[in-house]
Amino acid sequence: MNSKKAKTAYVCNQCGQEYGRWQGKCDGCGAWNCITEFRIGSTKSSRTVSAFSSISSGAIATPLSECAPQSYSRLKSTFPEMDRVLGGGLVSGSLVLLGGDPGIGKSTLLLQLMGTFAQNALKAVYITGEESLQQVSLRAQRMHISAPHLLVLAETSIDAIVGKLHDIHPDVVVVDSIQTMFCEGLESTPGSVGQVRESASVLLQFAKQNGCAIILVGHVTKDGAIAGPRLLEHLVDTVLYFEGESHYQYRIVRAVKNRFGPSGEIAIFAMSDIGLQEVVNPSELFLHNRSIPQVGTAITPVLEGTRVLVVELQSLVNKSHFGLPQRVASGIAPKKLSLLIAVLERYGGIMMGDHDIFFNIAGGLSVSEPAIDLGICAAVLSSFRNRPLELGTAFIGEIGLGGEVRPVNNMLARIRECAHLGIKRCIVPKPQKKADWTAAPEGTVLVMCKNIADLANLIL
Ligand code: TYD
Ligand code: MG
Repeated sequence: MNSKKAKTAYVCNQCGQEYGRWQGKCDGCGAWNCITEFRIGSTKSSRTVSAFSSISSGAIATPLSECAPQSYSRLKSTFPEMDRVLGGGLVSGSLVLLGGDPGIGKSTLLLQLMGTFAQNALKAVYITGEESLQQVSLRAQRMHISAPHLLVLAETSIDAIVGKLHDIHPDVVVVDSIQTMFCEGLESTPGSVGQVRESASVLLQFAKQNGCAIILVGHVTKDGAIAGPRLLEHLVDTVLYFEGESHYQYRIVRAVKNRFGPSGEIAIFAMSDIGLQEVVNPSELFLHNRSIPQVGTAITPVLEGTRVLVVELQSLVNKSHFGLPQRVASGIAPKKLSLLIAVLERYGGIMMGDHDIFFNIAGGLSVSEPAIDLGICAAVLSSFRNRPLELGTAFIGEIGLGGEVRPVNNMLARIRECAHLGIKRCIVPKPQKKADWTAAPEGTVLVMCKNIADLANLIL
């Protein structure tokens, strides 16, 4: 679209597609009622930028074998977990987006991170558009961050920021948050689609041209997406989400997109009164150290990225006093619980139609992978039959609609993590052919469980 002619543009909030006039449905992504108007000032034209400044119009097509891979310089912090989520450190010249609910600890995490970069003699700038310099200093004091060379800038004009950054030549910059920033050429208010998009484009250009890593903080909307155009997620190299339950101490940083490393990786932190602390052994956070077996609890290793977390599944099955029995699940999709109960009834002959069934994952974790199916059934059955499961036993496996138990990915890593925590007995699916995990670590006993009926015979 030619921005010199049109003073008003219509942009889709979801995908960033531009239109000359308003319409109800976006042709780009198919979403309804997501196109908003924004006005382009007459003084400056809208800047468009490629994600790679090295890509020019005069480029020559080159055989892949002759394209030498670029080696990235990575900035290391003193948070090994955070470096791992970023794929081995923050890549110079990359643009990272960190999204999360208000108050989850984004500013806290980034101030700590910038403190460690500054201590490592890197030129680090923390730009705040939400707090005053005094507030930032107070927070740093509270967390005992001693980084006298860390520069703090309270500014919201992108043009002023880029001007200052050109003078400073920083290695790493935090912009907290992208929704408070504005470009002077645009007439729309900060936080609007046009402003967010334009501000991010200008910062992207600065990062690529100067080899400076920039971390943007992004607000999250009610439905959990980063506010502003979806385009922001396409534009940046890495998208991190900061998640957590406000009632629990722990917080999870999850890489949902990473051009410089694997996605799906997580780092776990605990919020303390002196800021965020890395949790080195997260399974201990989610597991109770029990000495007597408890009815209705089962242990399962779940995979988050490349990392295995051993979690405790809890269930309570009671005779129902109402006509319609209740099924309440937290930490898993409620439909999953209903589905597994149906399989238990049909293929295990376990009739729970007149019972209320409650399910929970201890510690407030949410799990969507199917590897916990067997553990869910074991916990429900244990409560229904009032039989505690043996201590030091873990359940691993997906359950099919035919009542069969199926192997899941990374079985060996899961079994190893259990062994590491002293869980030496694993109830596992029967492999179709010899698999690498059947040679379990020394001292671990694998009990094969072909189907739901086998499971029902184990819990008597
Ligand atoms: P903050 O980093 O301001 O959140 P965001 O930038 O994501 O909106 O998070 C602040 C919250 O963390 C606030 O509720 C207070 C709490 N907090 C601690 O518990 N300990 C600390 O040391 C700090 C700095 C904050
Ligand atoms: Mg903040």
